[in-house]
Amino acid sequence: MDGLVEKGVMRLEWARSHMPVLAKVKEELKDSGALQGMKISMALHTEAKTGILALTLKEAGAKVRLASCNPLSTDDCVAVALNERYGLETYAKKGESDEEYYQHMNKILDLGPDILIDDGTDAISLVHTKRQDVLEGILGANEETTTGIVRLQAMAKEGVLRFPVMDVNNADMKHLFDNRYGTGQSTFDGIMTSTNIQISGKAFVVGGYGWCGRGIAMRARGMGARVMVTEIDPVKAVEARMDGFDVMPMAMAAPHADFIVTATGCKNIVAPEHFPLLKDGCIMANSGHFDNEIDRVGLDEAAQKRRVRESVDEYLFPDGKKLYLLAEGRLVNLAAGQGHPVEIMDMSFAIQALCAKYMAENHGSLSPAVYKVPEDIDEHVAWLELDSMAIDIDQLTPEQEKYLNSWQEGT
Ligand code: ADE
Repeated sequence: MDGLVEKGVMRLEWARSHMPVLAKVKEELKDSGALQGMKISMALHTEAKTGILALTLKEAGAKVRLASCNPLSTDDCVAVALNERYGLETYAKKGESDEEYYQHMNKILDLGPDILIDDGTDAISLVHTKRQDVLEGILGANEETTTGIVRLQAMAKEGVLRFPVMDVNNADMKHLFDNRYGTGQSTFDGIMTSTNIQISGKAFVVGGYGWCGRGIAMRARGMGARVMVTEIDPVKAVEARMDGFDVMPMAMAAPHADFIVTATGCKNIVAPEHFPLLKDGCIMANSGHFDNEIDRVGLDEAAQKRRVRESVDEYLFPDGKKLYLLAEGRLVNLAAGQGHPVEIMDMSFAIQALCAKYMAENHGSLSPAVYKVPEDIDEHVAWLELDSMAIDIDQLTPEQEKYLNSWQEGT
């Protein structure tokens, strides 16, 4: 156990030392006193960067509890270290059952939170259903990811959402970097760690061309793969084509695929009708939030399963064909890799921390709805990030400023 705690401490401190933006935001939070005494329940992927966010909020005066937002994304040494060494109540274990997952989620809600910080909206959903006992006390929440926002929009549309929620995902300083460059890099961390298979020269199918799909496709091409994209949105399909990728339906891409990676936020992207089309040896992985993008249950029913490497399941079909599924179809970048790079999460979690402050200060004027992150928060984090990279940029001259605010000057 001691070894595990030490390893967790080292991982946390490594992350902390590469998160200068969040460190600056912590000082601002402390100075403002906005989070002093606030109870914050967090359901986020419990790994080192998340630990630093939780500690930041704690050091800014909040009472914090943390659980994971996915049964396979916890880094156990970090969870243990947070509990044992940092006194931060953490309820998470890699490989926890669905029952344990919800036990842990209930533990963080027992805190009686003022603010919820969620990733995927399982916690927010729970307080609207089985844990309505804590609903009244909640001032507001932050949601981290696209999938969570889609669920929240559905709740708002049905008129059941009971408190304001900040759409952290929508902030430019989040999705432009986290979804694109973060998922782009960490997806390959997960694939390469689990398989040790070469990407270069392979046919690589990316399901979905949102910000995450764009990042994955870009990195696959950069590594020398021949990339195909599948989409349902005509605009995104045109964009993928103009970005230089082949675009086609999954049924057409499947027979060529050495790899398929899904990042759509939708279900059954690889479904039983695709199994007969896939070629022997195809490796499938998912980088979307939920494990329903590749039909794992369908695979379990159609073929014989065997664990052949850590995070790699082989599916042997009656005709002798073998398909491979990574990380049980859960998000491969966290379940088989280490999640997004530290510097990326530095920006995302700076937005999270500032949105918690915003909620603490403004909840009184916000009705139950999903809110865009104010532009000044985005811009503030951008300046801090530039500062951390020692990058200076030009400033408008008074003459330029006047020009941009006028209409008289033309041809
Ligand atoms: N680490 C912590 N949260 C994460 C997320 N949402 N995606 C990738 N890595 C993470």
